[in-house]
Amino acid sequence: MSTAVPFFRPNVTDAEIDEVVAALRSGWLTTGPRVKRFEEEFAEAVGAPHAVAVNSCTAALHLAVEALGLRAGEAVLVPTLTFAATAEIVRYLGAIPLLVDCDPVTLNVDLEDAGRKLESLAAGRAVAGVPAGTKAVGIIPVHVGGLMMDIAKVKAFADRHDLWVVEDAAHSFPAAWRSSPGQAWQRCGENTSAISCFSFYANKTITTGEGGMATTFDGDLADRMRRMSLHGLSQDAWKRYSGGGKWDYRILAPGFKYNLTDVAAAIGIHQLARAETMRKEREAIAQRFAEAFAGADELETPPMPEDRIHSWHLFPIRLRLDRLSISRNTVIDELRERGVACSVHWRPLHLHPYYTETFGWRPEDLPTATAVWERLISLPIFPGMRDEEIAAVVENVRAVCKDNRRSLSTAARV
Ligand SMILES: Cc1ncc(COP(=O)(O)O)c(C=O)c1O
Repeated sequence: MSTAVPFFRPNVTDAEIDEVVAALRSGWLTTGPRVKRFEEEFAEAVGAPHAVAVNSCTAALHLAVEALGLRAGEAVLVPTLTFAATAEIVRYLGAIPLLVDCDPVTLNVDLEDAGRKLESLAAGRAVAGVPAGTKAVGIIPVHVGGLMMDIAKVKAFADRHDLWVVEDAAHSFPAAWRSSPGQAWQRCGENTSAISCFSFYANKTITTGEGGMATTFDGDLADRMRRMSLHGLSQDAWKRYSGGGKWDYRILAPGFKYNLTDVAAAIGIHQLARAETMRKEREAIAQRFAEAFAGADELETPPMPEDRIHSWHLFPIRLRLDRLSISRNTVIDELRERGVACSVHWRPLHLHPYYTETFGWRPEDLPTATAVWERLISLPIFPGMRDEEIAAVVENVRAVCKDNRRSLSTAARV
């Protein structure tokens, strides 16, 4: 099949375009009324009283750990299977990411491994390059691909070990969880942690081009993040220059430059309005993939627990390499040659030079992530994906697997 399928195509309508034009014509380009509206509507959408809009999820995560008082030399539990941002913001403050293995099926952080690592530290043993006696103060779980973790378990774990929780919710808007089918749904951000950090990067479930949001139930944390997002100033430009405002301000802390612009928020307002419609589209594609691959024994599809509303930012399949004669990378190359663009989420952090060289992590320290990432492929999934594009993904994945099946006699020897 010759249909070319991109990994992602942004879903932008005239509503976003008209709002951006209106923002440009309004004369107010930076943080102003459209950001305020976007914050209010996003807070309502996740069911949180406070939302602080910023220019990336990375910025939101940085502001979150700063507001929680993270200090140099302290440790924060961070999954190794995540994007660079989750751990680098811990380094921004001179603290140490204590890497944790993942669950082989959900790909989310493995709390049992986290517990073992904390016990080792408490017992006076170093964990890789993290010195014995280092105090762990927090955990940053990631809802990988939009599949939420069991929040009750995360909270119980954090309470047991006296840790704060900041959710890296870059993938999980809109998403929800419940502890069992009879329970009420709880949205990601609806008091699911101290601070939840969302991404509006170009290929995320909703986008502002670049952008992010931190939500919280704690007014003091919200105030600190808002202030630090704009140089630590006592009042922002909109307050100073809009009708009746005063020019004067005070620097209250050495902050950052993380504010979102009104031009970006103009896109976000309309993406937000369509968020659930777009999620349902992604969910329908995920269901089609799951059904189409049900009989393919060369791969495993992601779990679809009934106690989750999944955002389906990603559709990560796991290859069964024992049944294939080629590697994951070759499968991706063959799919690309057939016009299907795929990706991998992610090479685990402990297999990157910085984390190996700085903290001495070895592949065997995080065995599940080391093994599973070699099998991962993220297939294209996005709202607006055309029927023939979905069919092309299914057909080509099946064909590459079939053409490269390991013969049974060889497979038996592996
Ligand atoms: C899990 C995770 N966390 C954080 C980020 C950072 O998001 P942003 O690009 O908005 O800073 C990403 C981006 O892809 C991500 O995948």
